[in-house]
Amino acid sequence: MLTQLIYASEPFGFDDAMLDGILLQARRNNARNGLTGALIVRADLYLQLLEGPDAEIEATFARISRDNRHLGVHLLLRETVTERMFPAWTMRDDPAQSWLWDADAIHAGALTRATPAELRAVFVRAAADEAASAAD
Ligand SMILES: Cc1cc2nc3c(=O)[nH]c(=O)nc-3n(C[C@H](O)[C@H](O)[C@H](O)COP(=O)(O)O)c2cc1C
Repeated sequence: MLTQLIYASEPFGFDDAMLDGILLQARRNNARNGLTGALIVRADLYLQLLEGPDAEIEATFARISRDNRHLGVHLLLRETVTERMFPAWTMRDDPAQSWLWDADAIHAGALTRATPAELRAVFVRAAADEAASAAD
């Protein structure tokens, strides 16, 4: 059995170099720990899906929660699943697309009101968008 977790946070001191550093560290650790997932990124938002063995998810999320490169880490979904959504990605990174909730909607609570299906759909759609643009 696998655990799938989705959380949101607010980047602190965001720039490209910081994001590159986070992704490098995430991919190295996740490969070692059997984790996969995706990180949707915007200047005001990180939205991350992490999946893998429960103990590694716990330990990784504990480290992420303490990381001072972001603020306001809050767990949105945590479920047991039978299949990975991102089996081929130690950590995908996707810029937030225009259809994602904007900063105002998020401040008004859109993420915390979203259902598990809606939250998962965000990641499915992000993955599909890139597949579509790669095929152009
Ligand atoms: C938005 C964000 C996403 C992160 N994602 C991961 C991740 O998927 N896996 C991971 O191990 N660390 C991730 N990190 C980094 C951890 O917070 C922590 O710095 C790192 O795991 C410590 O690694 P080290 O023991 O190699 O120093 C993330 C940090 C941020 C800010």
